[in-house]
Amino acid sequence: MTIHIKNSQEIEKMRIAGALASQVLDYITPFVNPGITTEEIDRLCHDFMVNVQKTIPAPLNYAPDGHTPYPKSICTSINHQICHGVPGPKALKDGDIVNIDITVIKDGFHGDTSRMFLLGDTSIQAKRLCKMTYEAMWLGIQQVKPGAKLGDIGFVIQDFAEKNGFSVVREFCGHGIGKRFHEEPQVLHYGKPGTGLTLEAGLIFTIEPMINAGKRDIKQMPDGWTIVTKDRSLSAQWEHTILVTETGYEVLTVSEKTPAPPAFAN
Ligand code: MF3
Ligand code: CO
Ligand code: CO
Repeated sequence: MTIHIKNSQEIEKMRIAGALASQVLDYITPFVNPGITTEEIDRLCHDFMVNVQKTIPAPLNYAPDGHTPYPKSICTSINHQICHGVPGPKALKDGDIVNIDITVIKDGFHGDTSRMFLLGDTSIQAKRLCKMTYEAMWLGIQQVKPGAKLGDIGFVIQDFAEKNGFSVVREFCGHGIGKRFHEEPQVLHYGKPGTGLTLEAGLIFTIEPMINAGKRDIKQMPDGWTIVTKDRSLSAQWEHTILVTETGYEVLTVSEKTPAPPAFAN
């Protein structure tokens, strides 16, 4: 298992890549309204990345073992879709919740972040799920400091989600990130405190909990990518790329319109 501890030059490049990924979400936000298709969102983001930022959309043609190359530049996961939703010709509608997940490559380094978008009049359950998934991510982020264990992160996320009657997806996790999109370690969103890898300064990984309103079971769609809840319950996800610093953490995926941390994290 190869865990890359980043040096200060690499960290600076990761800050830039992280900011750029977050800026794509800032850019697309005013377009995410009822009537737009996820294919149109993909095209807008693709063009912004390639032509304005001069970044590479990491998902496009990404082909990990056992997968056909990913056909689009971003992931858009609507309602009961958990993650890796492939943009398509279906228009978003009032009441939908959609996760947009952006990964850019700049100067050889990856930045990976996602946010939830709530369209118009969403249900109370949808609002609660999106808010609590955001809080779950931040509870995880707040565990990050040298000497803490990966299990500490997973535990607080799982504990919070389950105490609120939700479930945590197990098959997908956060990940080390750097020159490669998915590096070691795997960052599980469930677990036991005091277990797993000990964090050290210079480690960079994502925290990206996927929380379901119903059961945790998943199903892969015939497109080979889109993951949905088996019981068709709503699912939400938020993602940041995090650096372990000497004293705690630094969120690398920040930009002008990054949502503020929850009050408890200030
Ligand atoms: N961005 C996703 C993550 O957070 C991975 C997407 S892989 C893709 O790890 F191929 F579906 F784009
Ligand atoms: Co990720
Ligand atoms: Co991502």
